[in-house]
Amino acid sequence: MTKIFIGVAWPYANGPIHVGHMAGCNLPPDIFRKYHRMKGNEVLMVSGSDMHGTPVTVRAEKEGMNPKDLAEKYHQMNVKAFNDFGVEFDEYHSTDDPIHIETVQKMFLRLHEKGYLYEKEMELPYCPKCDRTLPDRYVEGECPFCHFENARGDQCEECGKLMDPDMLIGLKCITCGSTPEFVKRNHFFFKLSAQEDYLKKWMSDKDYWRHHVLNFSRMFLETGLKDRPVTRDTTYGIKIPLLGHDDKRIYVWFEAFMGYYTMAVKWADGNQEKLDSFWKNPECRHYYFLGKDNVPFHTIFWPAVLKSLDWGLNLPYDVPANALLKIGGQQFSKSRGVTMNIKDIVQHYDPDAMRYYMAVTMPENRDTDFSLEDFVTRNNSELVATYGNFVHRALSFTYKNFGQIPESKLPGNEENELKTRIEQANHDAAEFLEKCEFKNGIRTLMELARFGNQYIDTKAPWSQIKQDKDACGTTLYHSIWISRALAIMMAPYMPFSSQKLWKALGEQGNVLDAKWEDALRAPKPGTTLSEPVPLFKKLEGSDADKEVKEMAPNEIAGLEKLDLRVAEVKTASDHPNADKLLVLTVDVGDGVRQLCAGLKKHYTLEEFVGKKIIVVCNLMPAKLRGVMSEGMLLAASEGEVVSLLAPPQDAQPGDRIDGTTPAAQMTINDFATYPFQIGENRNAEYAPTGGQPQALTVSGKPIGTDKNDGPGTKIK
Ligand code: MF3
Ligand code: ZN
Repeated sequence: MTKIFIGVAWPYANGPIHVGHMAGCNLPPDIFRKYHRMKGNEVLMVSGSDMHGTPVTVRAEKEGMNPKDLAEKYHQMNVKAFNDFGVEFDEYHSTDDPIHIETVQKMFLRLHEKGYLYEKEMELPYCPKCDRTLPDRYVEGECPFCHFENARGDQCEECGKLMDPDMLIGLKCITCGSTPEFVKRNHFFFKLSAQEDYLKKWMSDKDYWRHHVLNFSRMFLETGLKDRPVTRDTTYGIKIPLLGHDDKRIYVWFEAFMGYYTMAVKWADGNQEKLDSFWKNPECRHYYFLGKDNVPFHTIFWPAVLKSLDWGLNLPYDVPANALLKIGGQQFSKSRGVTMNIKDIVQHYDPDAMRYYMAVTMPENRDTDFSLEDFVTRNNSELVATYGNFVHRALSFTYKNFGQIPESKLPGNEENELKTRIEQANHDAAEFLEKCEFKNGIRTLMELARFGNQYIDTKAPWSQIKQDKDACGTTLYHSIWISRALAIMMAPYMPFSSQKLWKALGEQGNVLDAKWEDALRAPKPGTTLSEPVPLFKKLEGSDADKEVKEMAPNEIAGLEKLDLRVAEVKTASDHPNADKLLVLTVDVGDGVRQLCAGLKKHYTLEEFVGKKIIVVCNLMPAKLRGVMSEGMLLAASEGEVVSLLAPPQDAQPGDRIDGTTPAAQMTINDFATYPFQIGENRNAEYAPTGGQPQALTVSGKPIGTDKNDGPGTKIK
């Protein structure tokens, strides 16, 4: 039995866990943990909410809450999201945990005693208008390396480089926009430079790391390690365990990663041997799962701290960081309103179907793109059509005709081929999972399901049953065998559906308690089957339109970023490749444009021609199922009723909605952050959170809808 330690990056408790976090940091270790447990290995997987630091205080100021309450709120929310999504930890707490705080302070003192922490005067940005020093996320500016515009005071999130505020070009206070002055303050510095040689040596045998992780980390080392300040001017966070520093706290990054150790301390509950069996045992491999912006903290900073503590603690074995999962080509960002939260996802979709989609699109080596449309497609064409279809065919046919697992009376060569197939899949998937190649792992298993489907197709048990019941029984026995193997091996990826399948196969207990090798075992003839229900549901195209995108409160740009115009429909026709779409040509004043619209259920082609509508004219053109769409019309919906926004009677094509401008192009996701609604007076409104709704007008006249039987609450 091997021991495996898994550290999962601690998410900031400043917002709900979104799809990007989940696919990048949480689902991979959950699959990894479940797999290793089935292998009979002892796993300790820890994480928690990162409660401190400027990510939390900046957010709290925006939401008008105190930071502790805000962090607690999101902590609770995220614990629930993990649970609903089937992600399990051995310990998941928060950086407000008393054992975390106490242990961090012990580690701080130890580093101080060892001479790795020292006090030094430094220059810090200070905002005269806000009258405070501006740590980390309180300043923004242009990154001097990659020229990303909104780099933060401690890191550029685009290129991942660590930053000092004075390196940023055009430094600004994020609260008031003033240019900060620099003031002198005393802070504790960690002697990162002292570990440069050690880390170089340590990293020299890490060729098995993912390329992007290894390259980034080696480059980081090549450019030389600088000592870094690890305390901040704030009164929120963990106190410095030395006299006379009440106005400072430990830098959030310096204490959060210590959580990997503190949670093991909590887990061991005073039993030193237990703790050491994971943290000092050279046989225990330590894996860390995180997003790429966290790489330097885990491959440089944290190993340096572990080494400097000189307690003989294990250093990371592998850091299989993921690149970014993007949405519509953009980075997830709460502050820019680009986010899709797990708490909303689990309300609309089967968690296993989403886990499948994330597993096959995981950004293991490069950025990948997430879209609900693609999710629907792959759910239907892969999960439902291959895996779901196979096991349902196998089980329902057996259930109907035999009611129990039949005997294999004519095993022959077939059985050997089948055994070899299962063994191969079992072996290959294990190898991939152990190397953290999760995409390859699921691909291997889907191959087995595909084989199962083909097997049933060639054998045609529906004909066999009429001619030769024994042959039919044998086919089904083999199909059940493959299904059972899949139930076990799919369980790390899709635990909920595996459990359903397990039950349907007449097995007892939790499939996650089965052993990985048990997938090879033949089923027991005579086992009673329970009535099978399909494992997965086919989704409609409209299932991709669920309201799972969060609006960004208070941070929506004004109407001036939009180009909303009155347009007149010239022609309307059916979309050649999509049932629900139609294609319009519309006069928008300065020319005619082509739009694809999803309103086929609600309007006939004839109804459209000659109609005046409102069109968003500054969206990036996009191809929808092969047809270019150069804008989007606005409509409101309430329940089943959909109505078009209707400009005032005398408006002409090209007239702009008041307050909008010939603005620069934006993406559909940016547009989706605009809070539009239909107000009580049945007119369209722009309704910023916390602000006054403002009527949308053309030349001062309000915009209504073209149906008077329903106000419609949402505009899309
Ligand atoms: N809270 C950080 C983030 O979301 C990650 C912290 S990871 C740990 O980027 F190492 F500090 F735990
Ligand atoms: Zn940069």
